[in-house]
Order: sequence, then structure tokens, then C-alpha cells
Amino acid sequence: MSDMAMTSTGHRGSAASWLDAHFEAARAEYEEALRFVGIQSGWSVLDAGCGAGGYVPLLCELVGVAGRVSALDLAPENIAHVERLVREANCTVPIDLRVGSVLDLPFADSSFDCVWCANVAAFLTKAEFGRVMGEFRRVTKPGGLVAVKELDVTLLQFLPLDPAILARLAAARRAKAAETGLGAWCGPSLGPFFRRVGLEELVRRSWLVERWAPLPPATRQFITMLVRFMAGLAVEHDLPPTDLEALRAAAADPDRLLDDPDFCFREAFVVTLGCVPA
Ligand SMILES: C[S@@+](CC[C@H](N)C(=O)[O-])C[C@H]1O[C@@H](n2cnc3c(N)ncnc32)[C@H](O)[C@@H]1O
Repeated sequence: MSDMAMTSTGHRGSAASWLDAHFEAARAEYEEALRFVGIQSGWSVLDAGCGAGGYVPLLCELVGVAGRVSALDLAPENIAHVERLVREANCTVPIDLRVGSVLDLPFADSSFDCVWCANVAAFLTKAEFGRVMGEFRRVTKPGGLVAVKELDVTLLQFLPLDPAILARLAAARRAKAAETGLGAWCGPSLGPFFRRVGLEELVRRSWLVERWAPLPPATRQFITMLVRFMAGLAVEHDLPPTDLEALRAAAADPDRLLDDPDFCFREAFVVTLGCVPA
């Protein structure tokens, strides 16, 4: 996987092969989080920033043949990937796939009963996400739901690697993003963006994806890629040389870390859910 699994539109960790591997490694918790939103049969739902379409099959199952799923992404190759996925699954639910931006949604007002947006906010500035939330509210019907899932990388761990190393990397990424960027630590702090556009009845819930050794092969493969990804990010930040060396060594020989009988991967994420006033 080349250049941090970058899309043609410049988003790291967002190429379809990476997204599929990540989704597979965390499928149980990711699908539980989507079910938690409460999408009903017959609803019209938008998957905003759908990536490789990991959530699309479950969205189709939830809305059923009386419902409708739209999925939009900025990267044309990701939409092409979802087109293949939908074709091969012989999906019976009407699906509308589009290349486009969450900043300027190509949908009429009040088109959807629910907007689901997973792991996109992290790539945006605070100003952009404010605009995106305005778009989500605009395209959602009165009484409908807006649900945003985001990571909290301040809790990412590859135990028994000292958790303070990844915590310092998260802090350095945050400092570099300064006041303007949201970043992959924004999961717990999206409430104000919901309230600012008038969304009500906010609910927030966190999940911890936890995978102890021994890991199944697909999970192991993804975590190996992630260890290397984090080591690649680390060299772009101001970190103590001992942290850089520990991450470099882990990336050079990930089997040593993953074969530890006490190895544990931990990834935390938050779903924020708000309702458009009826
Ligand atoms: C980390 S991936 C998440 C994909 C998927 N939602 C998931 O959780 O598996 C981020 C996705 O956001 C898309 N993206 C980034 N900025 C976007 C924008 N302004 N409008 C639409 N999609 C965007 C990227 O192309 C990428 O597919």
C-alpha cells in the first residue's frame, strides 16, 4: 500500500484497500454503532463520505426494499469501489452513488430521514465541519437524525508498547493542527457543532475496539499496516528520539510486537447523534 493509503483527492488512510481492512478488523463494533443510530425500515439514508462502502450493506439491510440509500464521496475511485460492491452483492435496495463533497451536498432540502457520516470530520477544519453540519441539517427532514462517528486517537494503543508514546504522538498531531483542524481525536468534542445548527436531543456513545493476541490473520494484517502508518506519521512530528526509535523498531519488525502474548490493539470512537426539530 503506497503513500499512507492516500486517495486521489489527498486523504490519508482513505484508500479502499485500507478502509476495507480497517472495517473488517473492527466490524462488530462498527456495525453495532450503526445499529445504535436507530435507522428504520423504509427510511431514506445518506452515507456522507462513504469511502469503500463498508457501511452500505448494513444500511441497505436496515432500510430494506422500501427504503433508499445514497452514498457520496469525494474520491471517484472509492465510489467506483462501492459500485462494484453493490453490483456483486445484487442489492435489491435502491442505491444512489455520487462523487461529491460533504461541503456542498448535491441533494434537495429535507431529502433524508437520516445522515450517517463516519470518519470524515477528522479531515476537515472546524470552519468546514460547521458548514458540513449545516448541510447535514438542510438535507435531513424535520424529525430526522444526523449521526457522526469519529475516532478518538488519544486512546489508540498497541500494548505492551508504552501507551504514553502514542499519547504523545496524538498530542503532537493536535498541536500541529492548532486551533483550526478537527483531526482524528475529535470524536468526543463534536457536540457544539450539532447544537450550533439547531440539532436537538444529543446522544453520545463511545466504543472501545479491543483485540488481544492471538489475532486472526486479517486483523493482524490491518494492525501491521496501522503500526507502520503511525510510525510514518511520527517522523513528521516533534517527538522525543526514544519515541521515534520505539515506533521505528515496531514498524521494522511488527511481528515481534504482535506475537507478544500480551499484545492488545485498542481503538476508541464516538458516535454523536442529534435530531432535526420536528
Ligand atoms: C477515513 S475514510 C472513511 C470512509 C467511511 N465513511 C468509513 O468509515 O469507512 C474518509 C473518507 O472521507 C472522504 N472525504 C474526505 N473529504 C470529503 C469531502 N469533503 N466530501 C466527501 N467525502 C470526503 C474521503 O474520500 C474518504 O473516502
